[in-house]
Amino acid sequence: MTLDANELLSVCKRRGFIWPSFELYGGVAGMFDYGPLGLSLRNNILEVWRDMYKGGEGFVEIDSETVNPREVFKASGHVDEFADLMTYCSQCQSPFRADHLVKGMHPNPDTLSPRELDAMFAERGVSCPECGGKLGPVEEFNLMFKTTIGPGSSRVGYLRPETAQGIFVNFLNLYRYNREKLPLGVIQTGRGYRNEIAPRQGMIRMREFNMMEVELFVDPQDKGWERFPEIEGEELALVPNTGEETVRMTVGEAVEKGVIANRVLAYFIHLTKRLLVRLGIDEGRLRFRQHLSDEMAHYAADCWDAEILLSYGWIEVTGIADRGCWDLSRHAQFSGTDLTHFKRLDEPIEAEVEKVRARHRALGPAFKDRAKAVAAALESASPSDIRDGRLALSVGGEELVLTDEFFEVARVREKIAGERVVPHVIEPSHGLDRIFYSVLEHAYSFDEAEGYTVLRMRPEVAPIKVGVFPLMAKDGMDEMARAIYREVHSSRMEAYYDDAGSIGKRYARMDEIGTPWCVTVDYESLDGPQKGTVTIRDRDTGGQKRVPAGSVARLISEMVGGKSFADL
Ligand code: ATP
Ligand code: GLY
Repeated sequence: MTLDANELLSVCKRRGFIWPSFELYGGVAGMFDYGPLGLSLRNNILEVWRDMYKGGEGFVEIDSETVNPREVFKASGHVDEFADLMTYCSQCQSPFRADHLVKGMHPNPDTLSPRELDAMFAERGVSCPECGGKLGPVEEFNLMFKTTIGPGSSRVGYLRPETAQGIFVNFLNLYRYNREKLPLGVIQTGRGYRNEIAPRQGMIRMREFNMMEVELFVDPQDKGWERFPEIEGEELALVPNTGEETVRMTVGEAVEKGVIANRVLAYFIHLTKRLLVRLGIDEGRLRFRQHLSDEMAHYAADCWDAEILLSYGWIEVTGIADRGCWDLSRHAQFSGTDLTHFKRLDEPIEAEVEKVRARHRALGPAFKDRAKAVAAALESASPSDIRDGRLALSVGGEELVLTDEFFEVARVREKIAGERVVPHVIEPSHGLDRIFYSVLEHAYSFDEAEGYTVLRMRPEVAPIKVGVFPLMAKDGMDEMARAIYREVHSSRMEAYYDDAGSIGKRYARMDEIGTPWCVTVDYESLDGPQKGTVTIRDRDTGGQKRVPAGSVARLISEMVGGKSFADL
């Protein structure tokens, strides 16, 4: 069965999953609103992610600002680097992502430079896909939305293109909260904003989107992970950057062969697989592709994308990167704040170290009553600060540059309790909307016999867990059904009461929105040997069972938790 994304989007729109934003005013490309069912599904996905990271791994969660001052993104590199290459049609003025226009002509179009793209347009006769007009020169376009903070234009701010920076700029607060220990795992969910040049693939490329980001700070000399042995025998489908082929290997093998850089990165690649499969992504349509070295973001040391096969082709839904020390080093450099971890040794050791020593005999006559302060500043400097035999110091607000007439470098034996290291960051960054859409596509099926769409969503993520119907809205069946509905329904376990139309139509309505079970109150529920029982119908098998009405809430909750219908 081939799925037409437009058909799915139209079901989603009709049934209240997602709506193109501002349709009343003609809409804006790349913007969508979530309707009631969509928001429930999205929240359920979020809860599974939260359960795995906050619950399963013991990470902590924060919530930081979406408007950030320029300094943050200057330090992170986004002001200078976060750009896509674009071109305009010189005739109809339509904007295009330049690399998207040469897809299929080059194995990795997003590694091409503006000049290489210009040359490729000329060589291959690429013209405007809308009107056939000549394309203008390719140029860089920064994807961040710019704004000002407060009145006037003096304080420039940007809407964050990722939630990650909010975690990095809070590193010291988080580090202290974690009692100055590593590893330190932090999660954040929220909006990211990117002024995408030409969003064309439904929910895949939005201008305002939802992220679920994880930043794990680790000791740079220890890229192991305590729980690695639990999963090292599990299999992954990998596309390493040495070729185009998908290879299957265990997580352990991938690390041993150097395909994945280290154990901690491999563990979180595997955790991403577990998350996606738990959400209902078909394992056979999921792979992890390693970035080519020239495709890697400005901060990444190794990076893998979780890609899902959709009707649009293979689409990245999550990036899992080893960001090295990039983020903390840059924020330390730009803010002038020490963002290191003190790595205490089990036992202090005695070692020979180099130290800057003041030459007091020379300092006295030259600096008189300031000599003591200058000597203290000299001795707190590190030999690595010496440039061309000189040391730059700030003493009592005055900047001094001293030659080695005033200091020497001595080797001394010292007790060392530990060392300061810049933590490295492992980051699984999930695009919630792309995952949401992928869950819908992989749940999609068409019931040929009945002639309608069935979303075979996992119970854990399905927006409505159970439909509750009276066979007919009379003779007390409706009251009994309403009572069951009230008992089952909560904001975490949504139920849906429906007494309109034939039972078949009501089942169809529930199947179409992915509801896994329907409960029906019939005449037998009211009287006779089956009094007090109701039927539960299973969406995926069509099977039905009679159960006591009083057990419905418990059974639904057990099945959402993993018990199978067959075991009821
Ligand atoms: P792409 O190459 O598709 O633009 P990216 O490599 O820029 O994506 P990342 O910067 O790694 O994406 O962002 C992390 C995740 O955020 C992505 O895996 C994706 O799921 C999601 N994401 C990024 N941009 C968008 C967008 N415009 N709309 C929806 N989700 C997005
Ligand atoms: N935080 C990773 C990204 O948005 O690219």
